[in-house]
Amino acid sequence: MRSETAYHGAMGEEFAAQATDSTYNAHTDRPAVLGLAGDVAGLEVLDLGCGGGHYAAELLARGAASVTGVDGSESLLAVARERLGPAVALHHHDLERPLDFLPEGAFDLAVLALVYHHVEARDHLLAEVRRVLRPGGTLLVSTSHPTGDWAHFGGSYFDEDRVSLPFGQGHALTFRRLTLETFIGELLAAGFLLEALVEPRAVEAGRRVDPRRHAKSHEKPMFLAVRLRRP
Ligand SMILES: C[S@@+](CC[C@H](N)C(=O)[O-])C[C@H]1O[C@@H](n2cnc3c(N)ncnc32)[C@H](O)[C@@H]1O
Repeated sequence: MRSETAYHGAMGEEFAAQATDSTYNAHTDRPAVLGLAGDVAGLEVLDLGCGGGHYAAELLARGAASVTGVDGSESLLAVARERLGPAVALHHHDLERPLDFLPEGAFDLAVLALVYHHVEARDHLLAEVRRVLRPGGTLLVSTSHPTGDWAHFGGSYFDEDRVSLPFGQGHALTFRRLTLETFIGELLAAGFLLEALVEPRAVEAGRRVDPRRHAKSHEKPMFLAVRLRRP
């Protein structure tokens, strides 16, 4: 399917450029999720919402046998292609739709880094992730932190409305804020077993990039990341 999703056009390019060395992406979310991944040597990995390919590049550098990337943004996929070269499979696809181009049980590890909260058909997406993961496979999900969202957007903690943040040169980043109960509940209802949960704070390298954001990430929860097992 060829329609564009979030992070299209210039917004995708701006996201990819900042994700390389930003306090929040490169030095908060990514180290936490890769830490949850552990040893990835020899694994077949599916990177859903792969963006500019930063995760894929790191997973391959750590010995993953292969990474298959999926994203809805043509501009981000172009950046990923440049970063990863022609050998890595990249699919332009809307995650609101079935992953019918991927075979059952094909992956050892699926990564959903900072994309879950953008998707509305999350129950369908999780059912598809379960289908394409082999039994015993791992799912990693990072998302916007429910308490951080509440602190930022206010209103009722239990309002699961779509919210919007300014991003880059006049763009808006929209997503659905979810309670902790909904986020974890959806993953468990899809049949995954929760193994680990972390509230990532910026690593030391993030202080050099942006001391204010580094400090903020140590005061206010920004992201939530979990490791789940497919039974
Ligand atoms: C915050 S970025 C994260 C990118 C990458 N996982 C990373 O952490 O560097 C969110 C990504 O999700 C993708 N995305 C959002 N909604 C999507 C959808 N419905 N289908 C496919 N991709 C989507 C965006 O294009 C973008 O690449």
